[in-house]
Amino acid sequence: MARAKKNVRKSGRRHPLATVALVAVGLLVTGAAYAGFTQTSATAEVDLSSPETISAGQKLFGANCATCHGMNAEGTKDGPSLIGVGAASVNFQVGTGRMPLAFQGPQGMARERQFNEEQTLQMAAYVASLAPGPGLPEQRYLQGDGDVANGGALFRINCAMCHNVAAAGGALTEGKFAPSLIGVAPTHVYEAMVTGPQNMPVFNDANISPQDKADIISYLKYIQDKPAVGGLTLGSIGPVAEGLFIWVIGLGIIIGFTVWVTAKSN
Ligand code: HEC
Ligand code: HEC
Repeated sequence: MARAKKNVRKSGRRHPLATVALVAVGLLVTGAAYAGFTQTSATAEVDLSSPETISAGQKLFGANCATCHGMNAEGTKDGPSLIGVGAASVNFQVGTGRMPLAFQGPQGMARERQFNEEQTLQMAAYVASLAPGPGLPEQRYLQGDGDVANGGALFRINCAMCHNVAAAGGALTEGKFAPSLIGVAPTHVYEAMVTGPQNMPVFNDANISPQDKADIISYLKYIQDKPAVGGLTLGSIGPVAEGLFIWVIGLGIIIGFTVWVTAKSN
């Protein structure tokens, strides 16, 4: 018996579960890598006020950013002045890969970051040294353990009209869009609120307190982690796209079935 089994294996047939196992391993690996990429937050031990950090940042800035933002971050026709934008803005822009800007389009896009965390913080320290501006968020607001219900209410009032109630993102005018917020690191969510990139308004602390920001971050973590109620969400992209899905797939199935039935009856 045992021998016969072995021979079957040798002749090249895989165990029926092999494919399942392979897919599972693949999903785990990509999932883990994705989590690793998205969870990076500003935790590296870099002292933003130390002169060494600032001068390292100034060098990186001169080599990579000055062509557009000017040698002293004063701005050129290709990029705005960064005087007073603060460490938070640099950490957000460079940390999400928006900067250095890759091309001139309607909107700088989030892409793979070009600088590691230490370099990013050095440039943030340099820009922060030029003039006061919003600083990096405190870790205690980024834990995702705040009041989810309050965060959800604040999100629907302040963010959903652009980013969609499910935070799936949405189109704005003139080719611009509000991106999906699923998978965005808590640091970057906080920094987006205090710096207001592009068409996004600034939500300063008088507007939405740090604790309320922590609640919004907790809400985003909650909708990201919770399983979707009511089955498949189709990405929560809205009624038009979801309707199209039903037309294409649903009608496709009905037509396919009709063809099958008529073919059989012939
Ligand atoms: C090709 C030109 C270009 C390069 C190179 C570039 N930027 Fe920018 N940057 C822009 C433009 C244009 C904007 C404004 C539009 C936008 O926000 O997308 C901007 C916006 C910013 C902002 C947001 C300012 C605000 O008001 O909050 C920061 C911060 C920033 N850049 C930092 C950097 C840093 C740091 C580098 C180098 C690593 C860099 N940029 C490289 C063109 C550039
Ligand atoms: C008027 C529309 C508008 C509102 C309201 C708005 N945003 Fe945004 N948001 C944008 C746009 C546009 C961008 C993209 C900016 C860019 O690419 O430079 C953005 C970007 C972001 C990002 C960066 C996402 C990424 O992929 O890196 C985060 C996080 C964010 N918004 C969170 C919020 C939160 C939280 C609120 C509510 C407190 C909010 N936004 C309200 C328009 C809006």
